Amino acid sequence: MSTGFERDRDEFARGTRAIVVLPDQGDPLRDAGARLEETAGLAAAIGVEVTEKIAYRVRTPRAATLIGSGQADLLAVEVQQEEAGLVVFDASLSPIQQRNLETILKTKVIDRTGLILEIFGERAATAEGRLQVELAHLDYQAGRLVRSWTHLERQRGGFGFLGGPGETQIEADRRLIRDRMAKLRRELDQVSRTRGLHRDRRQRAPWPVIALVGYTNAGKSTLFNRLTGADVMAENLLFATLDPTLRQIHLPGIDKAILSDTVGFVSDLPTQLVAAFKATLEEVVSADLLIHVRDIAHPDTEAQRADVETVLTELGVDEQTPRFEVWNKLDLLPPEEHQAAVAKADRDPDLIAISALSGEGVPALIERVAAKLTGAHRRYTIELDAGDGAAAAWLHAHGKVIDQSADDLKATYTVRMSDADFDRFSRRGA
Ligand code: GTP
Repeated sequence: MSTGFERDRDEFARGTRAIVVLPDQGDPLRDAGARLEETAGLAAAIGVEVTEKIAYRVRTPRAATLIGSGQADLLAVEVQQEEAGLVVFDASLSPIQQRNLETILKTKVIDRTGLILEIFGERAATAEGRLQVELAHLDYQAGRLVRSWTHLERQRGGFGFLGGPGETQIEADRRLIRDRMAKLRRELDQVSRTRGLHRDRRQRAPWPVIALVGYTNAGKSTLFNRLTGADVMAENLLFATLDPTLRQIHLPGIDKAILSDTVGFVSDLPTQLVAAFKATLEEVVSADLLIHVRDIAHPDTEAQRADVETVLTELGVDEQTPRFEVWNKLDLLPPEEHQAAVAKADRDPDLIAISALSGEGVPALIERVAAKLTGAHRRYTIELDAGDGAAAAWLHAHGKVIDQSADDLKATYTVRMSDADFDRFSRRGA
């Protein structure tokens, strides 16, 4: 019996003809057409050729196939005509639904989570990124094994304690997955510790860290390139940026700052991935300033904004972190909307309207970022001798202590405070 464990990413050869299907359940916040486009973009990111995009109106989701049986039959005809080797469902499918659909359609079927995991697997460029994706993938598969198991139990009449090849197989797969996950976690721990050391060194420097965040394809890499002159891959490819890219930039009045470009977020990001990427996204969590880049010309821009905010919360980003919202792709707006966006940004101190492509608004962005950082309270990690109560009291009195830990010898504080206070603190007793 196939458990899905042995499926791997390379199954979808580049150029495989694929059909993208949206089971449209009438989400009022998202435009079905834009959603189909996005999913087709995601599918293109794993190198398959999307030959058709179809939305099916689903009023009552069917337990067996999600879409209606008539719709499934129609889809089977499309698959045959298009000679499709893959059908991507822009939805979450249960293992049973996936299996039933594969039987009816006589081709491979993946859902949105499966697709996103494929992409992350392809894009991860660093050892850490790859470990995290594999871990998330295994976690996802482990969850599906458990679920198929319950389904199997139900099919057999609710007991399922009987031995049998199916059960043994699933048990064996579970153990394999568990062992592999434990090994990956150990490796990841090791890599994260090394990264942690690098980061500590940088924080002691101490340069402010600015993190670009945003929905996938919002234009983060394009802006990153404009701000740093770096040649980061900017292409119309979703998730072009998976591992964080860090560059030093110069801003007026600020000696040095670090700019970090991070993975694009997407709606329905599998929770396993958010968890797995916490380590990679530490730059975001500990940033001194967040720049939330939005594609203001996208029909779902509001829903995308909400998705990004949700992921930031899930990552544990401190609400107090200073941030700007950047309305990007101004050049794509019709003239009246363009003007209205610029006027709104002029009135709102936390909003900046730009076109990363044409450069419009970018000088103002640089100025405002510099001004905000100069006045901002930054985040510092400070180590004290365990007995240094006076210094600890000073930190509490002058900064906002976000986190602290201690062992017998030293206490580590994460504190937000002004540059001036940090200078005073560094010079104390000198
Ligand atoms: P991910 O890596 O998926 O997170 O994407 P990203 O947010 O880094 O987006 P990226 O910079 O790769 O840009 C995505 C697409 O939007 C590219 O085709 C860019 O050329 C285009 N783009 C970025 N900024 C602008 C802009 O201001 N105007 C227009 N018209 N296109 C833009």
